[in-house]
Amino acid sequence: MRIGLLTGGGDAPGLNAVIRTVVLSAASRGWEVVGIKHGFAGLLGKCDVAPLTRQSVSGIAHLGGTILRTTNRGNPLRYPVQHADGSVTENDRTDELIANAHQFGIDALIAIGGDGTLKIALELVRRGMKIVGVPKTIDNDVSCTITTFGFDTAVNTAIEAIDKLHTTAESHDRVIVMEVMGRHAGFIALHAGVAATADVILIPELPYDIEKVCEKIVSIVVAAEGAYGRDERTPPSGVSPSRREIRAGNVAEQLVQEIHERTAKECRSLVLGHLQRGGMPTGYDRLLATRFGAAAVRAVEQEAWGQMVALQSPHLVNVPITEVLREEKRVSLTHDIVEAARAIGISLGD
Ligand code: F6P
Repeated sequence: MRIGLLTGGGDAPGLNAVIRTVVLSAASRGWEVVGIKHGFAGLLGKCDVAPLTRQSVSGIAHLGGTILRTTNRGNPLRYPVQHADGSVTENDRTDELIANAHQFGIDALIAIGGDGTLKIALELVRRGMKIVGVPKTIDNDVSCTITTFGFDTAVNTAIEAIDKLHTTAESHDRVIVMEVMGRHAGFIALHAGVAATADVILIPELPYDIEKVCEKIVSIVVAAEGAYGRDERTPPSGVSPSRREIRAGNVAEQLVQEIHERTAKECRSLVLGHLQRGGMPTGYDRLLATRFGAAAVRAVEQEAWGQMVALQSPHLVNVPITEVLREEKRVSLTHDIVEAARAIGISLGD
């Protein structure tokens, strides 16, 4: 058995721990693993594929990023081609990808990624490839798994930042709005905001009322990058609010202006940005990544093609990717964390 292994989409702390575990678990079965660089794009054109051995994955479990590199561009189903006149068209390059996988003697693929990567994987399975998925996102927005590695690390990074902002904001009687990642889902904002006792938490799942935000503000507002106001321009018909174009970095700035105009309070903003994606994975994420890696190799052994490994505590299970993609995972407004936030006086801007 020769397994091809790739990481797709944005990186997340814990990817290297999955890679290491896949290689070691495969080696213990006498199987080989080849690493495919830059996601599915590594199987296109000249290809970027190299063997992964016990030696090449030694000492990487605690490192952030991915030794395989990654990209959130270059979907082989709709590969962008730039023309001389500047126009861009899209090509389906899956036949080429499948032929290259055969060329490298790849029997099965393990694809580590979020919804985008899983969608590509599912289409390739429909076209005959043998693929197992491993969920990855710091946003925690992949369905059918309680959590994904990288999320805990991102939440801890955000908590540390909020703790620091509390002291300076309070010393100056300022309002500080901190924007965290989460284009469509507010898990990072909610978990970090509750744990670090923000005054206001704004998430895309619950459009905010700026008047309510201003009523509550003491010092710290945590806003997901996809948060938006109730009276913001309604999205074009047929497009759900969570799908509208996200203005990363604009949310914090916009809120600062709105809050200042209404309250005259001195305000500052901080966009935590890619700090949330970097650095060492927490112990929780390293362990989860290791469990996912081992489960993915077991899934290959079980020939669970088109399935994704998932945490459904206390067990790791395989779930069909079709099931995973059926529904987008979002913060449930009836979840006990939302109730806890309200119970301790945190405003959700509604
Ligand atoms: O999907 C994960 C995520 O972290 C989002 O929260 C964020 O909007 C996005 O990636 C940013 O990705 P990049 O800057 O790498 O395109």
